[in-house]
Amino acid sequence: MKKITIVGAGRVGETTAQILAETELCREIALFDVREDVPEGVALDILQSAPFFKFDGVIHGSNDPRILQDSDLVIITAGFPRQPGMSRADVLESNVRIIDQVTDHMLAYAPNALVLVVSNPVDTLTYRVAQRTGWGRARVFGQAGVLDASRMASFIAQETGFSTRDITTLVLGGHGDTMVPVTRFCTINGVPIAHFLSEERIAAIVERTRKGGAEILALRKNSSAYDAPGAAVATMVDAIVNYRRRVLPCVALLDGEYGERDLAMGVPCILSAHGIESIVELELNAAEHADFAQSAQAVRADIERLRDLS
Ligand code: 2OP
Repeated sequence: MKKITIVGAGRVGETTAQILAETELCREIALFDVREDVPEGVALDILQSAPFFKFDGVIHGSNDPRILQDSDLVIITAGFPRQPGMSRADVLESNVRIIDQVTDHMLAYAPNALVLVVSNPVDTLTYRVAQRTGWGRARVFGQAGVLDASRMASFIAQETGFSTRDITTLVLGGHGDTMVPVTRFCTINGVPIAHFLSEERIAAIVERTRKGGAEILALRKNSSAYDAPGAAVATMVDAIVNYRRRVLPCVALLDGEYGERDLAMGVPCILSAHGIESIVELELNAAEHADFAQSAQAVRADIERLRDLS
């Protein structure tokens, strides 16, 4: 992959850019942000870390949307972050305007790009970008489940004392309080977590995972999480750039899978060079299916709100 543009040079955008630069996942990183001078400053700061990490790609920033020209991948992190006490859905009205503008820039300057949406509420905004571009689900998808699964894995590691290397977790559904950590598919090197943890402890981990973003926001006070979110985005970029065909939870447009259509939410996908190759349909049990359907309802309610904003 030659060029990746990150829209939004805030904390998530900057952290993502730094990781992509260090891991040399592309030759050119462009940072677009509407705030005057900010993207240039962020790019310069990252560039000055190059001698430490020995990377030599191009990194530049601009307020001019023409910087998106010829991007192979556009990562959208722009938007107002929620404040403590707010839900991700509370920033929908303000962020949909930003996302629409970014989408128009992509249509004008990066018509062949893949799009990875990170801004919140991510399920609804992924749906919005897909609708406005008409590009289809292979090319337009979002990041949520990779982060949520990583949070869950870190909680299991803290609780059991086992290495995070051995922990596999799966979180489906919308990126909000109704997300669906599927404990049946969570293992420690193939051994179900129920072998090591009581039902009560697993329930506590599920609850903490659902509130993982809010916990960090409440502690940081003036910022949402950005270290783990940046790493989660970089993990998806790595799967794309290196043709890995990884099975990762992505925010994907559903067309009948899991009994849902005309909305986007987190499901396991095969992610590779051309974006989402396909959705992996798991057989959920009744309780998991009910949780998934409830989460879909929450996402659908936000999508309904979009109609009034058009
Ligand atoms: C999070 O979960 C802000 O959605 C982001 O931390």
